[in-house]
Amino acid sequence: MSVDLRTRYLGLELKNPVVPSASPLSRSLDSARALEDAGASAIVMYSLFEEELNEQLKQSAFLQQQEVGYSEAETFLPLHSDPGSGLDSYLEQLRRLKESLQIPVIASLNGISLDGWVENGRLLAEAGADALELNTYYVAADPAVSADEMEQRYLSLISELRGVVSLPITVKLSPFFSSLGNFVSKLEATGANGVSLFNRFYQPDIDIDSLRVAPSLHLSHSGDGLLAMRWLGLLRGRVGLSMAATGGIHTAEDALKMLLAGADVTHLCSALLLHGPKQLRTVLSGIAAWLEESPYDSLEEIKGVLAQQHTRDPGAYERASYVRMLDSYKVNRTAWD
Ligand SMILES: Cc1cc2nc3c(=O)[nH]c(=O)nc-3n(C[C@H](O)[C@H](O)[C@H](O)COP(=O)(O)O)c2cc1C
Repeated sequence: MSVDLRTRYLGLELKNPVVPSASPLSRSLDSARALEDAGASAIVMYSLFEEELNEQLKQSAFLQQQEVGYSEAETFLPLHSDPGSGLDSYLEQLRRLKESLQIPVIASLNGISLDGWVENGRLLAEAGADALELNTYYVAADPAVSADEMEQRYLSLISELRGVVSLPITVKLSPFFSSLGNFVSKLEATGANGVSLFNRFYQPDIDIDSLRVAPSLHLSHSGDGLLAMRWLGLLRGRVGLSMAATGGIHTAEDALKMLLAGADVTHLCSALLLHGPKQLRTVLSGIAAWLEESPYDSLEEIKGVLAQQHTRDPGAYERASYVRMLDSYKVNRTAWD
């Protein structure tokens, strides 16, 4: 590849803009190496989940209160008898990934409560993470909690973490903030170095036969990332932090749209789970081929050229296009027969 695909993300100089996002693929050294061999410029680890640690702590406290004692329980509950085992195995996997890969490894923390997370962030930094991604998968289900309180929780977490780690921090956000631009600016002012748009919330589904509510996990499709693309385009130039695109990026075209809107890197997950590491190579060579044909010399030059601030039709990112789009819809009555 002769074109310059380098991109700066979270202060890291990456060789290209294609980074596998958090997924089970980083649980295996073989898969992680295969992603690196296919050209990944960095990798985000699966998340260390707050619930898992809390469950372990609860279980351990329970076991220690039993008359049978901890040592006997240990024999039949080896995985859960040590309160630190979830954290320990995560730190161990981080160290192993760092040893076997040349590319930066971004650790991921999932949690919203302050307790422990700042300490966990410090341990991840010590174990060699090149950056931290906060996966803030939190559904604001309690009507008593205001949007302001919610935002404050995130900001306190960033501010506390910033106080103890010097490595770059990025926040994987949901699209469900009332004023996303304002919130991203606050994150930046509090010390975050980047945002990743958007976290995919897995929705519960209802089974009408069993009358149960069940979780459902569907992988994304190519083109599912238009909401993120819009926000990247709106935020580029208005905020100074790094931006990653995640969700619905399966092809070079999907990735290029995100970069043109303003992303610094593009994350792949579903595409890799579906097709394996070779899809990363395909996306990468597609980006390089497009850039070679384009009037641009480097990837840095294309980042954000179609952001709202630069496009000839800024209204396309906002409401104006809504009316135009609805008015332009042609009903095809012949298909009704
Ligand atoms: C099986 C699976 C596991 C995932 N695990 C994590 C995780 O541990 N932490 C996280 O932040 N995101 C996780 N994600 C979300 C992905 O990193 C990604 O943001 C999301 O799937 C949207 O990207 P995609 O359309 O390319 O799949 C997971 C997604 C899938 C499908």
